[in-house]
Amino acid sequence: MNANRFAAGACLALTLFVAGCERPPIDTVQRGYRGTGMVEVYNPRLLAKEGALNTPPAVQPAIPSAPDGPKAGQVFQNVKVLGDVGVGEFTRLMLAMTAWVSPQQGCTYCHAGDNMASDALYTKVVARRMLEMTRQINSGWKTHVAETGVTCFTCHRGQPVPAQAWSAPAGQKQAGRAVGDDQGQNKPSATTGLTSLPYDPLSPFLMSSADIRVIGNSALPAGNRQSIKQTEYTYGLMMHMSDSLGVNCTYCHDSRSFASWEASTPQRSVAWYGIRMARDLNTNYLDPLKATYPPNRLGPTGDAPKLNCATCHQGAYKPLYGANMLKDHPELAGGRSVAAVAAVPGAPVVPAAK
Ligand code: HEC
Ligand code: HEC
Ligand code: HEC
Ligand code: HEC
Repeated sequence: MNANRFAAGACLALTLFVAGCERPPIDTVQRGYRGTGMVEVYNPRLLAKEGALNTPPAVQPAIPSAPDGPKAGQVFQNVKVLGDVGVGEFTRLMLAMTAWVSPQQGCTYCHAGDNMASDALYTKVVARRMLEMTRQINSGWKTHVAETGVTCFTCHRGQPVPAQAWSAPAGQKQAGRAVGDDQGQNKPSATTGLTSLPYDPLSPFLMSSADIRVIGNSALPAGNRQSIKQTEYTYGLMMHMSDSLGVNCTYCHDSRSFASWEASTPQRSVAWYGIRMARDLNTNYLDPLKATYPPNRLGPTGDAPKLNCATCHQGAYKPLYGANMLKDHPELAGGRSVAAVAAVPGAPVVPAAK
């Protein structure tokens, strides 16, 4: 190599290096004992993007109404979920729902023309079920959402269709073969953090209740169902969870023993309930809506769009960094409560709500 070109190259490399140093530094925070690798890495550029996504909206001003004033169920014709809510509060919620879900489209995204009582639009029928689902999350799944809770905005963020929803993909044929499903091998998938793990770890774990295990509890061959295939599915889900929350594996696990609950962080047990919550919401609320949606909203196998960890979290360890929007909308916290989900044996107890 010519000496001048070498000098020019070295100079360019040095300039790039120095320019690189001027960027805000990557921050690391130790979260476990030294030597356990329990460190979180914060990249300021990624945080800036994530921060913009996770800003809560303005609070809808209160509409005063007397506590013993008329209820929505008495005044309006076709109110099935919010019947016990005061008329002022009801109107304020309609305004908030419009801002959260269809700010561009307005009331007519759900209401057919001037007849507010009509259920002609499928969007209104879906929205009614969404109201029930939101109440179920806030009253039945405090083990996951604590007092922070969720509103329509947590998932919708000002759009009728949340940015993060999923449907079961159609089976893919293995390259060069007439038959056989390749489980997504060597096809990097965004669901699994761009790894080539099985492309659909969500159907078995967030729609069905397949066991999320890698380590068998008994010696081979009797009774041990653990396999490489099952391991890959488990890792696929773990990649999805880490990616959705913007955290490393060690936010929940001690890398010396991924399976051990004693060595895990309290966040792992919150995540355990999150998995059960996602299954409940997908099987009992979102998937049954396939009968209500028009065909263009359904996935390639005819299932309805469902939620995963990213639907609420959108890259943050807590959705909207833990901003509590529910305190301004207590009407979204009512409703029936789910039967308590049995805690996993040995799992640390979920910390009491803050
Ligand atoms: C995202 C969908 C959605 C949007 C947007 C929306 N609504 Fe509603 N609206 C509903 C649902 C669902 C109900 C029925 C609630 C129930 O059954 O408890 C309803 C019911 C009503 C009712 C009661 C009608 C009756 O007689 O039964 C009124 C009034 C109303 N909305 C007004 C509004 C106004 C005004 C706006 C715009 C500021 C608006 N809504 C925006 C979904 C929506
Ligand atoms: C936990 C997440 C979550 C919450 C909370 C939530 N939604 Fe949804 N919503 C979804 C998902 C997922 C879909 C399906 C999106 C798709 O079609 O891909 C959806 C679809 C909808 C649709 C149909 C949109 C269309 O064009 O097909 C409406 C309307 C809607 N939601 C209204 C609401 C309202 C109103 C609330 C609050 C009372 C709410 N949602 C709360 C996740 C949520
Ligand atoms: C947000 C918390 C969280 C994060 C982040 C997370 N996990 Fe997990 N992990 C869990 C929970 C909860 C379970 C148990 C699931 C169950 O039993 O339903 C689990 C189970 C596992 C298991 C199965 C252990 C056994 O019993 O066989 C392995 C292995 C694992 N995780 C690896 C990882 C890896 C690798 C990463 C990073 C890519 C990761 N996890 C990220 C919460 C997390
Ligand atoms: C319906 C919306 C929603 C969904 C879906 C959801 N979460 Fe959460 N999650 C929340 C809310 C809200 C909080 C904040 C609770 C609080 O303030 O303590 C939270 C908190 C957490 C925390 C605790 C974070 C901390 O630092 O304390 C973990 C871990 C977590 N979620 C993991 C998951 C995983 C894994 C999934 C998917 C299996 C998931 N979540 C799905 C709403 C959701």
